[in-house]
Amino acid sequence: MSRLSTPLRSLTRLTTRQLSKTTTFNVTSKPLLSIQSRGYKNNAQPQPMRDVMTGEIIQLPDLDASSVKITKTTTPKKPLAPSKLVFGKTFTDHMLTINWNSANGWANPEIKPYAPLELDPSSTVFHYAFTLFEGMKAYRQEDGTVRLFRPDMNMARMNRSASRIALPNFDGEELTELIKKLVVLDSEWIPKEKGYSLYIRPTLIGTQTALGVGPSSDAMLFVICSPVGPYYASGFKPVQLLATTKFVRAAPGGTGGYKLGANYAPGVVPQAEAAKEGYSQNLWLLGDEHALTEVGTMNLFVAFKQPDGTVELVTPPLDDVVLPGVTRDSALQLARDHAKGDKIPGLPEKLIVSERKLIMKDLVEAEKNGTLVEVFGTGTAAIVSAVDKIGYEGRDIQIPTGSEGLGSIAKGLLDRIIGIQTGEIEHPWSVIANPKST
Ligand SMILES: Cc1ncc(COP(=O)(O)O)c(C=O)c1O
Repeated sequence: MSRLSTPLRSLTRLTTRQLSKTTTFNVTSKPLLSIQSRGYKNNAQPQPMRDVMTGEIIQLPDLDASSVKITKTTTPKKPLAPSKLVFGKTFTDHMLTINWNSANGWANPEIKPYAPLELDPSSTVFHYAFTLFEGMKAYRQEDGTVRLFRPDMNMARMNRSASRIALPNFDGEELTELIKKLVVLDSEWIPKEKGYSLYIRPTLIGTQTALGVGPSSDAMLFVICSPVGPYYASGFKPVQLLATTKFVRAAPGGTGGYKLGANYAPGVVPQAEAAKEGYSQNLWLLGDEHALTEVGTMNLFVAFKQPDGTVELVTPPLDDVVLPGVTRDSALQLARDHAKGDKIPGLPEKLIVSERKLIMKDLVEAEKNGTLVEVFGTGTAAIVSAVDKIGYEGRDIQIPTGSEGLGSIAKGLLDRIIGIQTGEIEHPWSVIANPKST
């Protein structure tokens, strides 16, 4: 089956809502074309749109949340007691699946009972790592309100990841709508207790059933959900990092800035080696200057005190080697807002926020001068994680973490982000999945 050219594929990004508002539109130099009905009646599969004159396919169906088919389980499981939850081991009753192929675009989505996938062993996902994923969370309030946190960021990153490995793009707003339907259907699985949430794992895989490295003609997007407990159930636990160049997580021109499955398996052996030496995670360095990039699977923040008492909060800039974390972006925006006057308790009165290159020499000198204030990682799972020690060139750099095991900048940001995620603090980043009016 022939593949569509890139410009043609990008046309699939027009949403169905946009289309339904329009009856004609102009495509590049072509004459005005009429839009064919997508024929969703009785859940029929959507059809490609064709040029009425030539019959040529001009637009493939995009993701359409309104055409979802929902099949509820007839054998619901009993959710585990919250105290028994282990991260990522329990899954809810339902999942979302959507198939795509290069000839027909996105098929109708299905929400159905959670079950194993049946895939041909030749599927590209198994051989060439055509797989990417997202990690996001839903929170349930006492009154049953279910909230997502900045889902638009996850959707945008997922599309960027898809583009990097020639998997199809999709309308992120439509996938968000489908995720809302899934989490609302399974909302009884979200413990209401403080600190609990539903971890959501959207995944996109290549399912072309043929060997050979090339763009996958078939793909499947699926979403599964796992109830998770508070990361800090028994107090804050700072992590210890091993900084080494023996292993490299990502390199310029590579894929470290994308959330591809292929980036993660190679991190397991370095992590195990760090653990053997008594460190919990790797501090990923790059190049001769030993530039700091990320910590384990989190973004990195370092706070330095300047001679006049101002604190500079630094994170490495986004490029090929740093994943654009949703929590990183949130921490940066909140810290910048604080600096502008929207104060966050715990953050220093005089704060400047920088995205700039950091090298190990900066940390070694700051430790020597007593100007190293805090080091922490940010990510969806823990939100923030303090670092109290970095093993580097045969010795440990000691980092203050305060009496609670979490420095005051990390704690201030953690509290503010949790407040927004759970709806205690009203904020546009928190998106309600089950608004009361519906
Ligand atoms: C390599 C890496 N860096 C950073 C992050 C943090 O990203 P986020 O804040 O979106 O969870 C993650 C986790 O998703 C990650 O895998």
